[in-house]
Amino acid sequence: MDKYKKNNILKQQGREGRYMAIRNLRYQGDDILKKKSREVPEEEIASEKIQSLIDDMIETMHRYNGVGLAAVQVGVLKRIVVIDLYDDHGPIVLINPVVIKTKGEQEVDEGCLSFPNEFAKVIRPAEVVAEYTDRDGKRMRVKAKELLAQVISHELDHLEGELFIDKIIPGTLEYIEPEKG
Ligand code: NI
Repeated sequence: MDKYKKNNILKQQGREGRYMAIRNLRYQGDDILKKKSREVPEEEIASEKIQSLIDDMIETMHRYNGVGLAAVQVGVLKRIVVIDLYDDHGPIVLINPVVIKTKGEQEVDEGCLSFPNEFAKVIRPAEVVAEYTDRDGKRMRVKAKELLAQVISHELDHLEGELFIDKIIPGTLEYIEPEKG
């Protein structure tokens, strides 16, 4: 991507016209990734600080072509997750998410923005029912299956300081070099 395009992305506007910024990702080996994130007090959700963090997390996820990102991955120990499956729904913001129920299993290929170029097979629940607060402060419930169930399970693990690399199926880890150029 050339600089001109990159500048355009940096100038994209979030909610209420805020400028969005790409935040620095935390990578494998950074101790913060093993820490547990803290609940966001409901009265803080509408604050500029939290809303800007959410905008920046979405921008950062998109920049790195991720389908999910937890706040801890940009160095903020708050229970906030953003997900985008690049479908009609658009980005989903989950604040203080809680798993209500899981059902079944799926064996899936998985990676993580904090582990660039590393992919492995992992067992995730086939279905996940979760409750969360959205960025407007409304308590919501999502019933997810397939990829969305996988991503919710992966991102909620981040909030507990748990990483996919610690639950991979042995022998399935692959390093895939990014294309040059
Ligand atoms: Ni991850």
